Amino acid sequence: MTVSSAPGKVYLFGEHAVVYGEPAVPCAIERRATVTVDPRDDDVVRVVAEDLSLNGFAVEYSGSTDEHPDVDVPTPLVEAAMGYVDAAVDQARDAAGAPDAGFDITVESEIPLGAGLGSSAAVVVAGIDAATRALDVELSPREIADRAYQAEHEVQDGQASRADTFASAMGGAVRVEGDDCQPIDAPSLPFVVGFDGGSGDTGKLVAGVRALRDRYDFAAQTVETIGDIVREGEALLADADAEAGADPDEDLLEALGELMNFNHGLLEALGVSSRSLDSLVWAARSGDAYGAKLTGAGGGGCIVALDPTPETETALQYTPGCEDVFRAELATTGVRAEDGEVRDE
Ligand code: MEV
Repeated sequence: MTVSSAPGKVYLFGEHAVVYGEPAVPCAIERRATVTVDPRDDDVVRVVAEDLSLNGFAVEYSGSTDEHPDVDVPTPLVEAAMGYVDAAVDQARDAAGAPDAGFDITVESEIPLGAGLGSSAAVVVAGIDAATRALDVELSPREIADRAYQAEHEVQDGQASRADTFASAMGGAVRVEGDDCQPIDAPSLPFVVGFDGGSGDTGKLVAGVRALRDRYDFAAQTVETIGDIVREGEALLADADAEAGADPDEDLLEALGELMNFNHGLLEALGVSSRSLDSLVWAARSGDAYGAKLTGAGGGGCIVALDPTPETETALQYTPGCEDVFRAELATTGVRAEDGEVRDE
């Protein structure tokens, strides 16, 4: 039996624009998906999934996403989650040259589905690692990131960047621009996450931005301006004299917060925010956050704010429509074995 976990992420800056080649800075957070894999003697894939939403549910299926599990979670979300598990299995079989390998797979996740925290990337990354190790193949985190990207790309009909999967596989803060993916040094940013209990359809939201961008020059320029914000933010992180992982100083938080607010405004203009996300963003700002923005595809789900004090958490807790609020630590480790196996460096 092999067990692997991988973290979710928040976007400090750059979601959506990253799909068109602009840079983005996602940061892995200490909310993880854990995948347990037992090889089988036949070619069947059986999946048990627990806690794939905050309410939790369990589903069993054999080898095909055509089966519709009877669970209290919107069917498209369950189908999407199962599609990602299927794609991860395909990647693991391919990496091991074992096209008929069968598995019993258990998925547990602390990351709400479709809420902008990279739940699918974390499941795919942990799944590929656990399934390949079950077949006695060890991939490096970069190889896992690459295969996880191929899996997401396939499930999302080509509408995926490398950002979510690279952040989840590598951990820490990363920079992604097209195929160029690098870890970057970042201080320990005081992320507060607010969740409206909803989710967004990534494919539809990405298609919506694409349509606006094709139709209006100013929408294309908005996407480019998000890229400018990311470059400005990266420069701030690079100039910060804080050691990686150290507490950031107030000037840095103020400047990053201002850029986050700007980034949120442009995402709103591109039509990917929602009334509830905007209301959480404003609640965080009135709670004295340095800045706040939606994270991920948008439409519903999570916002991320910067605040080292408890004030933003308190403000969000008392905001109607806020289902959950938590502090998210930077996850310095990406994909990792949870069964005691030590990865070769
Ligand atoms: C989704 O978490 C982030 C998007 O930029 C899509 C992607 O990068 O694949 C909206």
